[in-house]
Amino acid sequence: MILKAEHISKSFGSNKVLKDISFQLDTSTITGIVGENGSGKSILMEIIVGIRKPNNGNVNRNGRIGYCPQRALLFPHLTVQEHFRYFSIAYGINNELAYELSEELLKHFNFKKYEHEKIKNLSGGTQQKLNLSIALIKKPDLLILDEPYNGFDWDTYQKFWNYSAKLRNQGCAILIVSHLLSDKEKLDHIYNLENGILE
Ligand SMILES: Nc1ncnc2c1ncn2[C@@H]1O[C@H](COP(=O)(O)OP(=O)(O)OP(=O)(O)O)[C@@H](O)[C@H]1O
Ligand SMILES: [Mg+2]
Repeated sequence: MILKAEHISKSFGSNKVLKDISFQLDTSTITGIVGENGSGKSILMEIIVGIRKPNNGNVNRNGRIGYCPQRALLFPHLTVQEHFRYFSIAYGINNELAYELSEELLKHFNFKKYEHEKIKNLSGGTQQKLNLSIALIKKPDLLILDEPYNGFDWDTYQKFWNYSAKLRNQGCAILIVSHLLSDKEKLDHIYNLENGILE
């Protein structure tokens, strides 16, 4: 068991976004959470990652966690490569390993040609490649992805699933949030978040 969430609830005033949510994730699995806009998917991810507190309930995590937020937290005036350096230092990853991994990701997701470009000059899809790659350089045991392929072209979308399958084979537990999960056969489990309940 890599993640266990028990009886999570969260309200904003009278708006009960999450009512009583419990689930767990095991190693080597890919799990999807679907739900309409405003159903509370991102709030639930923030609680799982630990950057937001629930009103009730608790979350137990084991191992390193990688998080790709729905809205990319990138610095407009830094380059792609500067982001890799910044985040690998923040995560305490050794220089050589960080360099190897960032090269692998730049090549796999086909954005090496932008490595010295500032974020403010990049397309939305390329920024999203970097947002995802920053979660991946941590070599996480648990990967939380909030709408990870938003803006990806078809080829990049395929590469995303190939990379996810590889990580799962290495033992990673992946949680993917999306309002569109058309490739259901790629997932071990799918939950639907509706009216504050996960089914
Ligand atoms: N800081 C806040 N204060 C008040 N209400 C909030 C706050 N943050 C989120 N909400 C509300 O919580 C609900 C769930 O928001 P959330 O962002 O989790 O939805 P979502 O399922 O991720 O939607 P989307 O598919 O659009 O990304 C929404 O009704 C939103 O208005
Ligand atoms: Mg969201």
